[in-house]
Amino acid sequence: MNDTDVLLAPRHEVSGFEPYVPGRDMENVKRLYHLKRVIKLASNENPLGPSPRAVTALRGSLSNLHRYPDGFSTVLRRALADHVGVKMGQVSVGAGSDELIEILAKAYLGPDDEIVVSEHAFLRYKMAADLMGARVVTVPMNVMTHDLPAMAAAVTSRTKFVFIANPNNPTGTYNTTTELEEFLITLPARVVAVVDEAYFEFARSHRDYPNAIDFFKAGRNLVVLRTFSKAYGLAGVRLGYAVGAEVLIDTLERVRPPFNISLPAQAAGVAALTDKAHLKRTVSLVAREREILEQALKKMEIPVVRSAGNFLLIQVSPHRGDETFEALLRKGVIVRAMDEYGFPEHIRVTIGQPAENRFFLSAFREVRRLL
Ligand SMILES: Cc1ncc(COP(=O)(O)O)c(C=O)c1O
Repeated sequence: MNDTDVLLAPRHEVSGFEPYVPGRDMENVKRLYHLKRVIKLASNENPLGPSPRAVTALRGSLSNLHRYPDGFSTVLRRALADHVGVKMGQVSVGAGSDELIEILAKAYLGPDDEIVVSEHAFLRYKMAADLMGARVVTVPMNVMTHDLPAMAAAVTSRTKFVFIANPNNPTGTYNTTTELEEFLITLPARVVAVVDEAYFEFARSHRDYPNAIDFFKAGRNLVVLRTFSKAYGLAGVRLGYAVGAEVLIDTLERVRPPFNISLPAQAAGVAALTDKAHLKRTVSLVAREREILEQALKKMEIPVVRSAGNFLLIQVSPHRGDETFEALLRKGVIVRAMDEYGFPEHIRVTIGQPAENRFFLSAFREVRRLL
């Protein structure tokens, strides 16, 4: 069958979909531009790599690869429940928190429903709602931060979820404990807040940064998403988790694919949770290096948004973000252009190892001179 012979039409919700654009691949960039050294600061990954404990556990799982994994991820969910202090029935796991966003959408959203998101929020919320044909209500930000009172005001009788990335990617900003608490109090009982804490471990040192799971424990109506992809350094195994009310988690459990968490991922996740030293090293390296990078950029009079995550949103005007991205790529530095996030004059840079950050800075200085 030739491509032109395929007459089968996808669902109309899907027909206009553009594929998600991930960070560029290092080997590919090396080949394309004949470069010896390429660094990737594009996907908010862990600069130190995976937890050594997780790697050992993952290796240990390999001789059982002919077996299906535990479809309930029992040991992992037990460990996670203990880790955050909730019941096991209040935890569901996904192939990245990304899968959980999609499972939430599949379970709860249809063409009659709405979600509320912030302008410049992580894009996958909108994409998940689009997949299900639900309406996406987008609320402008307030000084690069989710405007929670405005988001609460945007809730209608059709709203199912309000998505709050805290801190948000790509702005790196967060909503404070007071802001989140006030928001949750005003939310009608039939609406669930989805608080995405993908960068929780990096942000928690800020005194006014909320741990949303505490609000859940206090009886508020929310689902909290966390991931092993960032501070735990396991983006490649795909592992995230959701904490929420048992009825909601039970629904997700019925919708998710039966073996969504691979055997190595389950083993790696359990081990990574115990590796407090790796987590600590990661978080302090990121805090230190983020500060250095921010100061260096400020000295160059480049506007940077204060970030609680492991990345910085950098304004590159009068140049365009995509041309800066391209120019950096040619020098072996992969960052992200931010057009799809509504920032045509910004790039987002992940905090890397010290040498990588220096390499980025010198490439960036050159690019600024040349552009
Ligand atoms: C805010 C936010 N949520 C969720 C994710 C998804 O992460 P993963 O699917 O790797 O857990 C990301 C990844 O960049 C993110 O930035």
